[in-house]
Amino acid sequence: MSGLQGKRIVLGVTGSIAAFKAAEWTRSLVKEEAVVTVVLTEAAERFVSALTFAALSGNPVHRDMFGDSPEAIMAHLNLSREADVLLVAPATAQTIAALAQGAADSLLLAVVLAARIPVVICPAMNSNMLLHPATQRNIRCLEEYGYHIVQPGTGELACGEVGDGRLADWEAAREKLLSLFQPDDLRGYRVLITAGPTREPLDPVRFLSNRSSGKMGFALASTARRRGAGVTLVAGPVHLTDPPGVEVIRVTTAAEMARAVFDRAPEMDVIIKAAAVADFKPQVCEEHKIKKSEEGLRLELVKNVDILKELGQNRHPGLTLVGFAAESRRHVEEGRRKLREKNLDLIVINDILGSTTGFDVETNQVILIDKQSSTTLPLLSKEATADHIWDRVVAIRQHA
Ligand code: CTP
Repeated sequence: MSGLQGKRIVLGVTGSIAAFKAAEWTRSLVKEEAVVTVVLTEAAERFVSALTFAALSGNPVHRDMFGDSPEAIMAHLNLSREADVLLVAPATAQTIAALAQGAADSLLLAVVLAARIPVVICPAMNSNMLLHPATQRNIRCLEEYGYHIVQPGTGELACGEVGDGRLADWEAAREKLLSLFQPDDLRGYRVLITAGPTREPLDPVRFLSNRSSGKMGFALASTARRRGAGVTLVAGPVHLTDPPGVEVIRVTTAAEMARAVFDRAPEMDVIIKAAAVADFKPQVCEEHKIKKSEEGLRLELVKNVDILKELGQNRHPGLTLVGFAAESRRHVEEGRRKLREKNLDLIVINDILGSTTGFDVETNQVILIDKQSSTTLPLLSKEATADHIWDRVVAIRQHA
């Protein structure tokens, strides 16, 4: 289940070339089972037709302040009363200026002015227009009204220039929307999460590694950010993009991961080690490619530092320490042993043999074991699993 499922979103689209992206966003929202009602400005309709948005949202599109039915006349008030959030994307310089002034001479402006629900604004325009002091002042003004701004990105603009002003990526807007529906219960916490595998090189082209995709650790990082935490993510080699608003440190080997974690551990309130750290590394990494020989090859492996155990042995007061355990049998016994031996507050047991759990799948079913209890969660998305883990961390900290 997505955090956007069932959420009622009024999407205001204004007259920018990026309006076609709002059509894609509508599709993404509907895919996550949000209920989308679109309001178009007259200028927006010059770029994308109302029919497109009606087809993608499955709902009538609103464009006119002065429709002739009683519902249409009251639309500027009712649309936000019946919604959870108002998203304006793309928001042009003109719309932003009008909103800053409290203007209400179009349906969309009136809807925003009358709204008592969270308003999210995603500016998109040419760089010079964005960087003009008037636009910057207007954006600050919207922030003072309590509106949430999703800052535009940098890159190639429709006018051919390269610079600031591109409509933010959908992921950044999605993060903002999700954060509005989450408790703010991690605000003020500094959390560090590790994710993914490590690679232990044998020679310049080969390495030992494992099948971890990093998805669970990245889900923990984005959900923590949404719940207000300051998040550092130490990630091994994975094919995932940085979660918005998270400090990401990319590492390769267990030794690099250990250094990155130990350097930052003293300032953390919570550390979650979701990474699948290689337990062993080749004793030597050959300078040149190993050539095949007739007899086969014997590799000498040495132990890597157990990062989690080390953290457990040197923990500072106030730290909540969470480990993962990848198990194929005797899950609970093994989990309890690792909880005790690594001096943890919580351990999350993954069944690595299930086809819907563990490595490189979108879902997970885990067992949470702390000093008091053990709970088996249902099969959930990795984000929903991450939220349960954070709920448990918050409860542990409240009872500490
Ligand atoms: N871990 C770690 N450093 C290592 C190995 C593991 O920090 N060198 C952490 C993992 O990030 C995970 C936890 O320890 O949070 C348990 O990892 P797991 O591989 O399940 O257990 P191991 O301690 O390696 O024990 P075993 O492989 O014998 O099951």
